[in-house]
Amino acid sequence: MSRAEQRLTQEVLASFGQCRDQRLREILDTLVRHLHAFVREVELSEAEWHQAIRFLTATGQICDDKRQEFILLSDVLGLSMLVDAVNNRKGPGTTESTVLGPFYVADAPIRALGDNICLDGKGEPLFVSGRVVDEQGKPIAGASLDVWQAHEDGFYDVQQPGVQPAMNLRGRFSADKDGRFWFRSVKPRHYSIPHDGPVGRLLAALGRHPNRPAHLHVIVSAPGFAPVTTHIFVDGDPYLASDAVFGVKDSLIGRFVRHDDPERAAALGLGNPFYTVDWDFRLERADPRAT
Ligand code: BEZ
Ligand code: FE
Repeated sequence: MSRAEQRLTQEVLASFGQCRDQRLREILDTLVRHLHAFVREVELSEAEWHQAIRFLTATGQICDDKRQEFILLSDVLGLSMLVDAVNNRKGPGTTESTVLGPFYVADAPIRALGDNICLDGKGEPLFVSGRVVDEQGKPIAGASLDVWQAHEDGFYDVQQPGVQPAMNLRGRFSADKDGRFWFRSVKPRHYSIPHDGPVGRLLAALGRHPNRPAHLHVIVSAPGFAPVTTHIFVDGDPYLASDAVFGVKDSLIGRFVRHDDPERAAALGLGNPFYTVDWDFRLERADPRAT
Protein backbone atom coordinates (compact mmCIF):
# COMPACT_ATOMS: atom_id res chain seq x y z
CA MET A 1 0.00 0.00 0.00
CA SER A 2 1.36 3.42 -0.90
CA ARG A 3 1.89 6.09 1.76
CA ALA A 4 -0.82 8.22 0.15
CA GLU A 5 -3.35 5.38 0.36
CA GLN A 6 -2.48 4.76 3.97
CA ARG A 7 -2.73 8.47 4.78
CA LEU A 8 -6.12 8.73 3.10
CA THR A 9 -7.59 5.96 5.27
CA GLN A 10 -6.11 7.54 8.40
CA GLU A 11 -7.47 10.96 7.42
CA VAL A 12 -11.00 9.65 6.98
CA LEU A 13 -10.85 7.81 10.32
CA ALA A 14 -9.53 10.95 12.04
CA SER A 15 -12.43 12.96 10.60
CA PHE A 16 -14.77 11.00 12.90
CA GLY A 17 -12.90 12.29 15.95
CA GLN A 18 -15.60 14.77 17.01
CA CYS A 19 -18.46 12.27 16.75
CA ARG A 20 -20.28 12.07 20.10
CA ASP A 21 -22.16 8.90 19.27
CA GLN A 22 -19.63 6.20 20.18
CA ARG A 23 -21.54 3.39 18.47
CA LEU A 24 -21.91 5.35 15.23
CA ARG A 25 -18.21 6.11 15.34
CA GLU A 26 -17.32 2.45 15.91
CA ILE A 27 -19.50 1.32 13.00
CA LEU A 28 -18.27 3.98 10.55
CA ASP A 29 -14.67 3.49 11.60
CA THR A 30 -14.83 -0.24 10.95
CA LEU A 31 -16.84 0.20 7.75
CA VAL A 32 -14.31 2.62 6.27
CA ARG A 33 -11.37 0.41 7.19
CA HIS A 34 -13.02 -2.60 5.54
CA LEU A 35 -14.19 -0.63 2.48
CA HIS A 36 -10.76 0.85 1.89
CA ALA A 37 -9.12 -2.55 2.34
CA PHE A 38 -11.63 -4.04 -0.11
CA VAL A 39 -10.84 -1.44 -2.81
CA ARG A 40 -7.12 -2.05 -2.36
CA GLU A 41 -7.52 -5.83 -2.40
CA VAL A 42 -9.51 -5.98 -5.65
CA GLU A 43 -7.85 -2.87 -7.12
CA LEU A 44 -11.26 -1.53 -8.06
CA SER A 45 -11.19 0.23 -11.43
CA GLU A 46 -13.01 3.52 -11.99
CA ALA A 47 -15.36 1.80 -14.46
CA GLU A 48 -16.21 -0.80 -11.79
CA TRP A 49 -16.78 1.93 -9.23
CA HIS A 50 -19.22 3.63 -11.67
CA GLN A 51 -20.94 0.31 -12.32
CA ALA A 52 -21.38 -0.24 -8.57
CA ILE A 53 -22.88 3.26 -8.21
CA ARG A 54 -25.30 2.58 -11.09
CA PHE A 55 -26.27 -0.74 -9.51
CA LEU A 56 -26.96 0.83 -6.10
CA THR A 57 -28.89 3.68 -7.76
CA ALA A 58 -31.10 1.18 -9.63
CA THR A 59 -31.57 -0.78 -6.40
CA GLY A 60 -32.89 2.34 -4.70
CA GLN A 61 -35.01 3.41 -7.65
CA ILE A 62 -37.00 0.17 -7.77
CA CYS A 63 -37.90 0.41 -4.06
CA ASP A 64 -41.38 1.55 -3.08
CA ASP A 65 -43.75 0.89 -0.19
CA LYS A 66 -44.19 -2.72 -1.38
CA ARG A 67 -40.74 -3.54 -2.75
CA GLN A 68 -37.52 -3.37 -0.76
CA GLU A 69 -34.68 -4.23 -3.11
CA PHE A 70 -31.96 -3.32 -0.59
CA ILE A 71 -33.21 -5.99 1.84
CA LEU A 72 -33.32 -8.42 -1.07
CA LEU A 73 -29.70 -7.51 -1.85
CA SER A 74 -28.80 -8.08 1.79
CA ASP A 75 -30.62 -11.44 1.64
CA VAL A 76 -28.84 -12.78 -1.46
CA LEU A 77 -25.44 -11.74 -0.11
CA GLY A 78 -26.03 -13.65 3.13
CA LEU A 79 -25.98 -10.41 5.12
CA SER A 80 -29.49 -10.82 6.51
CA MET A 81 -28.72 -14.31 7.78
CA LEU A 82 -25.44 -13.10 9.31
CA VAL A 83 -27.23 -10.29 11.16
CA ASP A 84 -29.80 -12.88 12.27
CA ALA A 85 -27.03 -15.21 13.46
CA VAL A 86 -25.17 -12.64 15.56
CA ASN A 87 -28.41 -11.40 17.12
CA ASN A 88 -30.08 -14.74 17.81
CA ARG A 89 -27.52 -16.96 19.44
CA LYS A 90 -29.91 -19.58 20.80
CA GLY A 91 -29.44 -22.14 23.52
CA PRO A 92 -29.10 -25.75 22.36
CA GLY A 93 -32.36 -27.41 21.38
CA THR A 94 -34.37 -24.20 21.09
CA THR A 95 -36.00 -23.34 17.79
CA GLU A 96 -33.59 -21.59 15.45
CA SER A 97 -34.46 -18.39 13.65
CA THR A 98 -34.24 -17.51 9.98
CA VAL A 99 -35.13 -14.65 7.62
CA LEU A 100 -38.38 -12.73 8.00
CA GLY A 101 -38.58 -11.99 4.27
CA PRO A 102 -40.50 -9.14 2.64
CA PHE A 103 -43.96 -10.74 2.61
CA TYR A 104 -44.84 -10.59 6.29
CA VAL A 105 -48.05 -8.67 6.97
CA ALA A 106 -48.77 -7.49 10.50
CA ASP A 107 -52.35 -7.93 11.67
CA ALA A 108 -53.14 -11.12 9.77
CA PRO A 109 -56.60 -12.46 10.68
CA ILE A 110 -56.96 -14.12 14.06
CA ARG A 111 -57.99 -17.73 13.43
CA ALA A 112 -59.38 -20.51 15.60
CA LEU A 113 -57.41 -23.73 16.03
CA GLY A 114 -58.30 -26.05 13.16
CA ASP A 115 -59.15 -23.25 10.70
CA ASN A 116 -58.00 -23.48 7.11
CA ILE A 117 -55.75 -20.58 6.07
CA CYS A 118 -56.04 -21.50 2.39
CA LEU A 119 -58.95 -19.36 1.19
CA ASP A 120 -59.11 -20.42 -2.46
CA GLY A 121 -58.87 -24.20 -2.09
CA LYS A 122 -55.86 -24.44 -4.44
CA GLY A 123 -52.99 -26.76 -3.59
CA GLU A 124 -52.37 -30.08 -1.87
CA PRO A 125 -54.16 -30.25 1.51
CA LEU A 126 -51.96 -30.07 4.59
CA PHE A 127 -52.62 -30.56 8.30
CA VAL A 128 -50.12 -28.76 10.54
CA SER A 129 -49.94 -29.62 14.24
CA GLY A 130 -47.51 -29.47 17.13
CA ARG A 131 -46.72 -27.86 20.43
CA VAL A 132 -45.01 -24.76 21.75
CA VAL A 133 -42.79 -25.66 24.71
CA ASP A 134 -40.11 -24.08 26.89
CA GLU A 135 -36.49 -25.18 27.26
CA GLN A 136 -37.54 -27.95 29.66
CA GLY A 137 -40.24 -29.20 27.28
CA LYS A 138 -43.10 -27.79 29.36
CA PRO A 139 -46.05 -26.50 27.32
CA ILE A 140 -46.47 -22.76 26.91
CA ALA A 141 -50.22 -22.27 27.19
CA GLY A 142 -51.69 -19.67 24.83
CA ALA A 143 -48.46 -19.07 22.85
CA SER A 144 -49.05 -17.06 19.66
CA LEU A 145 -48.23 -18.33 16.19
CA ASP A 146 -48.27 -15.91 13.25
CA VAL A 147 -48.19 -18.01 10.07
CA TRP A 148 -47.81 -17.14 6.37
CA GLN A 149 -46.80 -18.96 3.22
CA ALA A 150 -46.78 -18.75 -0.57
CA HIS A 151 -49.54 -20.04 -2.80
CA GLU A 152 -49.02 -23.14 -4.90
CA ASP A 153 -48.21 -20.89 -7.88
CA GLY A 154 -45.23 -19.57 -5.91
CA PHE A 155 -46.57 -16.14 -4.94
CA TYR A 156 -47.73 -14.55 -1.70
CA ASP A 157 -51.19 -12.94 -1.60
CA VAL A 158 -49.62 -9.46 -1.45
CA GLN A 159 -47.85 -10.14 -4.77
CA GLN A 160 -51.12 -11.03 -6.49
CA PRO A 161 -53.84 -8.60 -5.41
CA GLY A 162 -57.04 -9.43 -7.27
CA VAL A 163 -55.76 -12.90 -8.13
CA GLN A 164 -55.55 -14.38 -4.64
CA PRO A 165 -58.02 -13.46 -1.90
CA ALA A 166 -56.59 -10.89 0.53
CA MET A 167 -54.97 -12.57 3.54
CA ASN A 168 -54.78 -15.89 1.72
CA LEU A 169 -52.50 -18.35 3.52
CA ARG A 170 -52.04 -16.19 6.60
CA GLY A 171 -53.34 -16.38 10.12
CA ARG A 172 -52.64 -15.81 13.77
CA PHE A 173 -53.32 -18.70 16.14
CA SER A 174 -53.17 -19.16 19.90
CA ALA A 175 -51.98 -22.49 21.26
CA ASP A 176 -54.35 -24.21 23.71
CA LYS A 177 -53.71 -24.73 27.45
CA ASP A 178 -51.31 -27.61 26.65
CA GLY A 179 -49.31 -25.52 24.17
CA ARG A 180 -50.89 -27.44 21.30
CA PHE A 181 -51.79 -25.93 17.96
CA TRP A 182 -53.29 -27.28 14.75
CA PHE A 183 -54.58 -25.77 11.54
CA ARG A 184 -55.22 -26.64 7.92
CA SER A 185 -53.41 -25.29 4.88
CA VAL A 186 -51.79 -26.49 1.67
CA LYS A 187 -48.33 -27.95 1.17
CA PRO A 188 -45.91 -25.08 0.42
CA ARG A 189 -44.02 -25.15 -2.86
CA HIS A 190 -40.63 -23.72 -3.73
CA TYR A 191 -40.75 -20.29 -5.39
CA SER A 192 -38.46 -17.61 -6.73
CA ILE A 193 -37.71 -14.37 -4.93
CA PRO A 194 -38.45 -11.24 -7.01
CA HIS A 195 -35.78 -11.33 -9.72
CA ASP A 196 -36.99 -8.82 -12.31
CA GLY A 197 -34.79 -6.03 -10.90
CA PRO A 198 -31.13 -5.28 -10.15
CA VAL A 199 -30.83 -8.14 -7.63
CA GLY A 200 -32.18 -10.61 -10.20
CA ARG A 201 -29.66 -9.32 -12.76
CA LEU A 202 -26.88 -9.72 -10.20
CA LEU A 203 -27.94 -13.32 -9.48
CA ALA A 204 -27.96 -14.07 -13.22
CA ALA A 205 -24.49 -12.54 -13.64
CA LEU A 206 -23.28 -14.72 -10.77
CA GLY A 207 -24.79 -17.85 -12.34
CA ARG A 208 -27.17 -18.27 -9.41
CA HIS A 209 -30.86 -19.24 -9.42
CA PRO A 210 -33.41 -17.12 -7.51
CA ASN A 211 -35.28 -19.97 -5.79
CA ARG A 212 -36.17 -20.58 -2.18
CA PRO A 213 -37.02 -24.09 -0.98
CA ALA A 214 -40.65 -24.62 0.08
CA HIS A 215 -41.40 -23.36 3.58
CA LEU A 216 -43.98 -22.15 6.00
CA HIS A 217 -43.15 -18.93 7.87
CA VAL A 218 -43.95 -18.72 11.57
CA ILE A 219 -43.32 -16.12 14.27
CA VAL A 220 -43.82 -17.75 17.64
CA SER A 221 -44.14 -15.61 20.75
CA ALA A 222 -45.32 -15.78 24.35
CA PRO A 223 -45.02 -13.43 27.32
CA GLY A 224 -41.74 -13.97 29.17
CA PHE A 225 -40.09 -15.74 26.21
CA ALA A 226 -37.86 -14.52 23.39
CA PRO A 227 -39.95 -14.54 20.18
CA VAL A 228 -38.57 -16.53 17.26
CA THR A 229 -38.98 -15.76 13.55
CA THR A 230 -38.57 -19.08 11.83
CA HIS A 231 -39.60 -21.45 9.02
CA ILE A 232 -40.63 -25.07 8.66
CA PHE A 233 -38.92 -26.23 5.46
CA VAL A 234 -40.35 -29.11 3.43
CA ASP A 235 -38.09 -32.16 3.41
CA GLY A 236 -36.97 -33.36 0.00
CA ASP A 237 -37.25 -29.94 -1.63
CA PRO A 238 -34.76 -29.60 -4.52
CA TYR A 239 -33.54 -26.17 -3.30
CA LEU A 240 -32.75 -27.02 0.33
CA ALA A 241 -29.04 -27.01 -0.42
CA SER A 242 -29.05 -23.81 -2.48
CA ASP A 243 -31.57 -21.40 -0.94
CA ALA A 244 -31.14 -18.04 -2.74
CA VAL A 245 -31.13 -16.27 0.65
CA PHE A 246 -29.16 -18.85 2.69
CA GLY A 247 -32.03 -19.30 5.17
CA VAL A 248 -31.96 -23.09 5.58
CA LYS A 249 -30.87 -24.67 8.85
CA ASP A 250 -30.99 -28.45 9.25
CA SER A 251 -33.00 -28.15 12.46
CA LEU A 252 -35.79 -26.39 10.54
CA ILE A 253 -36.51 -29.14 8.00
CA GLY A 254 -39.85 -30.82 8.73
CA ARG A 255 -41.19 -34.19 7.64
CA PHE A 256 -44.20 -33.67 5.39
CA VAL A 257 -45.91 -37.07 5.24
CA ARG A 258 -48.29 -37.94 2.38
CA HIS A 259 -51.44 -39.89 3.30
CA ASP A 260 -53.98 -41.60 1.09
CA ASP A 261 -56.71 -42.16 3.66
CA PRO A 262 -60.17 -40.87 2.70
CA GLU A 263 -61.65 -41.50 6.18
CA ARG A 264 -58.96 -39.61 8.04
CA ALA A 265 -59.04 -36.86 5.41
CA ALA A 266 -62.79 -36.47 5.97
CA ALA A 267 -62.31 -36.44 9.76
CA LEU A 268 -59.73 -33.63 9.39
CA GLY A 269 -61.88 -31.73 6.91
CA LEU A 270 -59.33 -32.12 4.13
CA GLY A 271 -59.38 -33.47 0.59
CA ASN A 272 -57.66 -36.78 -0.05
CA PRO A 273 -54.74 -37.41 -0.50
CA PHE A 274 -53.28 -35.01 2.04
CA TYR A 275 -50.06 -34.20 3.92
CA THR A 276 -49.32 -33.81 7.61
CA VAL A 277 -46.45 -32.13 9.40
CA ASP A 278 -45.99 -32.32 13.15
CA TRP A 279 -43.67 -29.67 14.54
CA ASP A 280 -42.72 -28.44 18.00
CA PHE A 281 -41.37 -24.96 18.71
CA ARG A 282 -39.10 -24.60 21.72
CA LEU A 283 -38.75 -21.06 23.08
CA GLU A 284 -36.08 -19.61 25.28
CA ARG A 285 -36.95 -17.46 28.31
CA ALA A 286 -36.50 -13.75 27.53
CA ASP A 287 -33.34 -12.21 28.87
CA PRO A 288 -34.62 -10.23 31.88
CA ARG A 289 -32.00 -7.54 31.10
CA ALA A 290 -33.40 -7.08 27.56
CA THR A 291 -35.76 -4.13 27.28
C1 BEZ B 1 -39.47 -15.20 1.88
O1 BEZ B 1 -39.23 -16.28 2.36
O2 BEZ B 1 -40.64 -14.85 1.84
C2 BEZ B 1 -38.35 -14.37 1.31
C3 BEZ B 1 -37.20 -14.20 2.06
C4 BEZ B 1 -36.18 -13.41 1.54
C5 BEZ B 1 -36.32 -12.81 0.31
C6 BEZ B 1 -37.48 -13.00 -0.43
C7 BEZ B 1 -38.50 -13.79 0.07
FE1 FE C 1 -41.17 -17.19 2.07
